Amino acid sequence: MSRPPEPSVHVALDAEGTTSSLVADVRRGLGSVPRTLPPKWLYDDCGSELFDQITRLPEYYPTEAERRLLAQHAADVVRETAASTLVELGSGTSDKTRTLLDAFTEGGILRRFVPVDVSEATLRSAASMLVQRYPGLTVEPLVGDFTLHLGHLPSGDRKVVAFLGGTIGNFYVEERAAFLGALADSLAPGDFLLLGTDVVKDADRLVAAYNDSAGVTEAFVTNSLAVLNRELGADFDLDAFTYVPFWDPAMERMDLRLRAETPQRVTLPGADLVVELAAGEEIRVEISTKFRPDQLRDELAAAGFATDHLWTDGDFALTLARRLP
Ligand code: SAH
Ligand code: AVI
Repeated sequence: MSRPPEPSVHVALDAEGTTSSLVADVRRGLGSVPRTLPPKWLYDDCGSELFDQITRLPEYYPTEAERRLLAQHAADVVRETAASTLVELGSGTSDKTRTLLDAFTEGGILRRFVPVDVSEATLRSAASMLVQRYPGLTVEPLVGDFTLHLGHLPSGDRKVVAFLGGTIGNFYVEERAAFLGALADSLAPGDFLLLGTDVVKDADRLVAAYNDSAGVTEAFVTNSLAVLNRELGADFDLDAFTYVPFWDPAMERMDLRLRAETPQRVTLPGADLVVELAAGEEIRVEISTKFRPDQLRDELAAAGFATDHLWTDGDFALTLARRLP
């Protein structure tokens, strides 16, 4: 039997652009108070593998909660959207997406799947798996940044854009509004957004989900410093930092930081930067915002989306929203 062809991968990120964007992010982020790093640099090959392990941790409930919601409502998504193209932003392994693709190939008219991710190796391996599993589907992976490359998405077809896993919670408030606005601009009226979001809940469960007993999340967050050491020739001493995850009740978000336990002088030659960290000073590596249903509907409406469905089990929510004319 002949094997399906390897998918043809469109690469919107070039090495030079990636380095200059890392340098700009590092100069801006490590120069602000508190010092920050944008989360997209967490996903080198090692970070992507660690995130995959996180999704299987007993404390990290979002993945399985979202998988159950997808299983319950995939047929509704297929029927209501009647889409011929499914796009997935920040697709990673596209593991849960198979639930959606199974429903689309059973009952729909889907002909194309466009997974989009900055992590090229993860995207390529997911795409190879998908062409084997769905021989009738055209898989067109895009190696790109969903904050920069929405203009590369296909146009013409009736589309659903899936943005799963709660990844929208990793944006800051103003970035989130800008992203939703740009996404709405890139879609035609009648196209759909399928959005996965984590829900505000008891702080103990949230902290446990980001402070697992096996230390995988700590390794995932600390890996950001290893990325800077490798890509910018920096000399962060990974052992000099303690992982500090906490719930910020005012912003309703998890705040994941690394604290320098002793004064640190770090040089980052690739960014032409020296950073002096005082003892106890922290670098915020990631936030993970949690949502309330009314807030979601309002934010989507402000960006030009009407919420047709908001399915939730109380822990996680899956929203199907339509781009308004
Ligand atoms: N959707 C998957 C993976 C979530 S992890 C799930 O639900 O489990 C977040 C994913 O988004 C990672 O695969 C990461 O590489 C990707 N990502 C993070 N920032 C990105 C950006 N700016 N542009 C494109 N992909 C990004
Ligand atoms: C990808 N994103 C939704 C995850 C989250 O829960 O915010 C990333 C993560 N960081 C630590 N654990 C998981």
